[in-house]
Amino acid sequence: MKKFIGALFFISISLSLLNLGCKDSVTADQIDSVVIPSSNVSYSQYIQPVLNLKCISCHGAGQVDGGINLTTWAGTTADPNVVFPGYPNNSSLVWAIQGKPNVSAMPPLDSPYKPLTTNQVNGVITWIKEGAKNN
Ligand code: HEC
Repeated sequence: MKKFIGALFFISISLSLLNLGCKDSVTADQIDSVVIPSSNVSYSQYIQPVLNLKCISCHGAGQVDGGINLTTWAGTTADPNVVFPGYPNNSSLVWAIQGKPNVSAMPPLDSPYKPLTTNQVNGVITWIKEGAKNN
């Protein structure tokens, strides 16, 4: 019995270490505590993980609402009306996550997805201001 508990303990420690080493596996519970810096915002490190957890179930490969596919950088930046590199104020993605009038708020208020935090909204704005790069 002692050996069994020891083995379980070992396995759970190894699994949590494995989890820590794997940066991409941020869960819906963890995403809001990831702090996006105020400059040099990396798309792959900070933006795509937010889109993955809060947007792509409706804007993904299977279901592409509004014709907007947010599963990759190429899809996210495909339409300059959605993301206009250098100009967050002209990007409808920014209006949508800010809940601006005349645009549908994203994620939709009646959906199970949590709205973006202020830090996430600012992170998206900074990423677009810095050229919406594939970085
Ligand atoms: C529950 C499904 C759902 C989720 C989650 C969702 N969307 Fe949408 N989105 C839609 C639908 C449906 C439309 C098209 C109809 C509309 O505009 O309401 C849309 C339209 C849009 C538009 C175009 C808005 C306009 O009026 O021009 C943008 C930009 C957008 N979504 C971005 C996002 C982003 C960014 C996220 C995540 C933060 C997100 N969406 C999450 C369903 C969703």
